[in-house]
Amino acid sequence: MTRHFLNLADAGGDAIAAMLNDAMDRKAARQGWPKGKADADAPLAGHTLAMVFEKNSTRTRTSFEMAMKQLGGDSIFMASGQMQLGRGESIADTARVLSRYVDAIMIRTDDHAKVEELAHYASVPVINGLTDLSHPCQIVADLLTITEHGKPLPGLELAWLGDGNNVLNSVVEAAGLFKFNVRIAVPQGYDSDSSFIESARAAGSNITQTRDAAEAVNGADVIVTDTWVSMGQEHAHNKMAAMMPYQVNEQLMAMAKADAKFLHCLPAHRGEEVTDAVIDGPQSVIWDEAENRLHAQKSILRWCFGQL
Ligand code: CP
Ligand code: NVA
Repeated sequence: MTRHFLNLADAGGDAIAAMLNDAMDRKAARQGWPKGKADADAPLAGHTLAMVFEKNSTRTRTSFEMAMKQLGGDSIFMASGQMQLGRGESIADTARVLSRYVDAIMIRTDDHAKVEELAHYASVPVINGLTDLSHPCQIVADLLTITEHGKPLPGLELAWLGDGNNVLNSVVEAAGLFKFNVRIAVPQGYDSDSSFIESARAAGSNITQTRDAAEAVNGADVIVTDTWVSMGQEHAHNKMAAMMPYQVNEQLMAMAKADAKFLHCLPAHRGEEVTDAVIDGPQSVIWDEAENRLHAQKSILRWCFGQL
């Protein structure tokens, strides 16, 4: 069966654990190498990934492109505005055509239903590079980063502050798969998708929702936030005001565990969801997190091709 990666549950906890181990091993094996040099085993030699972007990207595009290069394969960047997709060709027809040219498709789009439709009609693996609903590739990198920084996932206390968005949905999904707990502090009116929360709770995770940022961060192992205005959303004045009490600042960080880490998927809006002092401070692991997108993508790709 074709292995699509639309959400973390498509792979499941065991496969994601295998991805994390593979990513750590491969990262260690190529320390100090030029970034464009292929891994010794070049496991995706002869394979090509099409990358369809309906939204902007720095990390996802570059990390997937370099991931394919390091795995010995190739990639094709496709901005949807320059494709017939941007002129109304259907997702289904695009999926059928691309499947005749390439070995896998990554897509970043606004509507999660489009990724599902693409996967339905494609005969090659489809990877979700971010939708309005979720950002699973980001969270594989985040789990890698948290683990590398000495925090075991089971029993971890993760606090999420700010907007109840796509990245949070994938954090909550991961919590259910890896048995960690999430304290969500989001203002009224900006809560995240309840189905992810219900599934994680059913899997045994403790997912709490509060309007009090201090309550969420108190004694937490990891503090995570993201932009208050995601791509495709209106920059609304009242939303920014509602978010202000959830800004990650030094005062809030001081309430977490002394060895707590700060994560942010980036791009950051300094002075909004996080202060300079925190994002540039000693507890911030954002550059490792960004680098780990590359190592995580390689293992996601290998899983899609049945190598993990
Ligand atoms: N974190 C993330 O997905 O970044 P890009 O939007 O730059 O891809
Ligand atoms: N929540 C953000 C994540 C960007 C990587 C967005 O959807 O724009």
